[in-house]
Amino acid sequence: MIQKMEVNDLEHIVELEQQCFTSPWSKDDFLYELNENPFGYYVVLKEQDQITAYLGLWMDEERAQITTIGVDPKHRSKGYAKALMEHMLDVCSKRGVQMYSLEVRVSNTPAIALYERYGFKKVGIRKAYYQDNHEDAYLMIKESEEN
Ligand SMILES: CC(C)(COP(=O)(O)OP(=O)(O)OC[C@H]1O[C@@H](n2cnc3c(N)ncnc32)[C@H](O)[C@@H]1OP(=O)(O)O)[C@@H](O)C(=O)NCCC(=O)NCCS
Repeated sequence: MIQKMEVNDLEHIVELEQQCFTSPWSKDDFLYELNENPFGYYVVLKEQDQITAYLGLWMDEERAQITTIGVDPKHRSKGYAKALMEHMLDVCSKRGVQMYSLEVRVSNTPAIALYERYGFKKVGIRKAYYQDNHEDAYLMIKESEEN
């Protein structure tokens, strides 16, 4: 079941974030996204009431940027990221989004494969984009199917 992320979810989300990312967001980062960012859209995927995955984006009228997607390491390769991507694309297309973008570490083969599966293409490189190890990011873009 996919639901809007709530403040009560954040304790668990921050734990998952630490397992998923080398530069994890803090609880305050998520609080800002949930409570103050008018463009923020954050959801969790629950299995038997346990959060197993989450996704976030910034969405305005025509553009959406995926800010995060993470799946509990114990629950990978079960299709949860695909379920979240499909939910995200459905919500965005109903709201008229025309263009999707994201940044991803050049070494992140699973995530790149996930995004390519949904039609994202590498369109540029952001040099030394990540502060922790100065790794480059691919900028990936997808245009809506109606274009
Ligand atoms: C990337 C991530 C979200 C994938 O989650 P997941 O639930 O395991 O993915 P799914 O089971 O839904 O698989 C979706 C697709 O992703 C790709 N994929 C997932 N794991 C992969 C792997 N280990 N190697 C290659 N491709 C992989 C495949 O294209 C797969 O589709 P397929 O099964 O039809 O081949 C997960 O590995 C994760 O949380 N990683 C750490 C956080 C992260 O890097 N997020 C992305 C930040 S940009």
